[in-house]
Amino acid sequence: VSLKKYNTFGIESSAEYFVSVNSVAQLKEVLSKNEEPLFILGGGSNMLLTKDIKGLVLHLNITGIELSNKTDSHVEITCMAGENWHKFVLYCIENNYGGLENLSLIPGNVGTSPIQNIGAYGVELKDTFVRCNAVEISTGKEFIFNKAECNFGYRSSIFKTSEKGKFIITSVTFLLTTKNHNQSISYGAIKTQLDKQHITTPTVKDISNAVIAIRQSKLPDPALLGNSGSFFKNPVIDAETFRNFKTKFPEAPYYEVTNTTFKIPAGWLIEQAGFKGKRYGDAGVHKNQALVLVNYGNATGEEIWNLAMKIQKKVRENFGIFIEPEVNVF
Ligand code: EPU
Repeated sequence: VSLKKYNTFGIESSAEYFVSVNSVAQLKEVLSKNEEPLFILGGGSNMLLTKDIKGLVLHLNITGIELSNKTDSHVEITCMAGENWHKFVLYCIENNYGGLENLSLIPGNVGTSPIQNIGAYGVELKDTFVRCNAVEISTGKEFIFNKAECNFGYRSSIFKTSEKGKFIITSVTFLLTTKNHNQSISYGAIKTQLDKQHITTPTVKDISNAVIAIRQSKLPDPALLGNSGSFFKNPVIDAETFRNFKTKFPEAPYYEVTNTTFKIPAGWLIEQAGFKGKRYGDAGVHKNQALVLVNYGNATGEEIWNLAMKIQKKVRENFGIFIEPEVNVF
């Protein structure tokens, strides 16, 4: 089975065996019978396939949205893993549930969102996350992970670290506001966008629309140009490395994470290293956001990977900073 339409990079790769499950019961049944190496496929939006997949590719297609609890000011809402993330966000916006609007238009499915604690424009998944349900691959047993147990960090959780490859997330529960929304509009680009429309007291929907406009202006639509969003994480460097860096590159943007650690936008490093908008065959660096690698049509996973490694090397040579991929590479 070709996996080209199952990964947003649009990379041609094939699965030896392929099965799509649409219920937790079906998932457990497949797991109990399977003896092949297992590869879990969600929205395919945060991965780079560099070769064909040996064994069983299990596509998680479990859908549904359920209100689990409602108070005067909040709603607890559970979304099954196979729902498209942005479709779920739009559902919340239509109902005026606040908390996810800054995360509009992020590609991928709900089930994979906790793995890397997706984030954008000052908000992270963990801010509204309550718990997730997951099935342990080796036993087929169901587990519930609360927020603390997930150990969320910047683009990270236990599902990417200590428990990597051990669980399949089947649903995620969020606590959203139905009034007095805690809006996060401090991010420069959101402010600019709202000002442009003369909006001073934005609704949840206004913020979502602003985020959509910003993303559409900077980030390529995977349906039109294959990509996996940010290819690298923004590097976090220590105080001494930062001091040296800042002396040499006083114009560089940065965010203070703690008073001894600093985050540098990888997009800036890559642009300064001369890669923005560059194209090598069908592999390239996006013209509006250097952090995004793109597939112009028929790039292989290996070509994208070679470009990534070339960028990583050059950034290290020019700035003494190591940038690490954010996408999962297979
Ligand atoms: N910049 C450049 N050149 C570029 C891109 C960025 O100089 O080509 C500099 C600019 O100074 C800009 C700064 O980098 O002000 C930050 O850029 P941007 O606001 O686009 O955010 P980012 O740090 O590059 C992160 C996330 C994005 C998320 C945005 C907005 C990571 C790895 N990426 O990007 O997430 O949408 O912030 O919050 O943290 C994703 O993970 O797939 C993703 C798109």
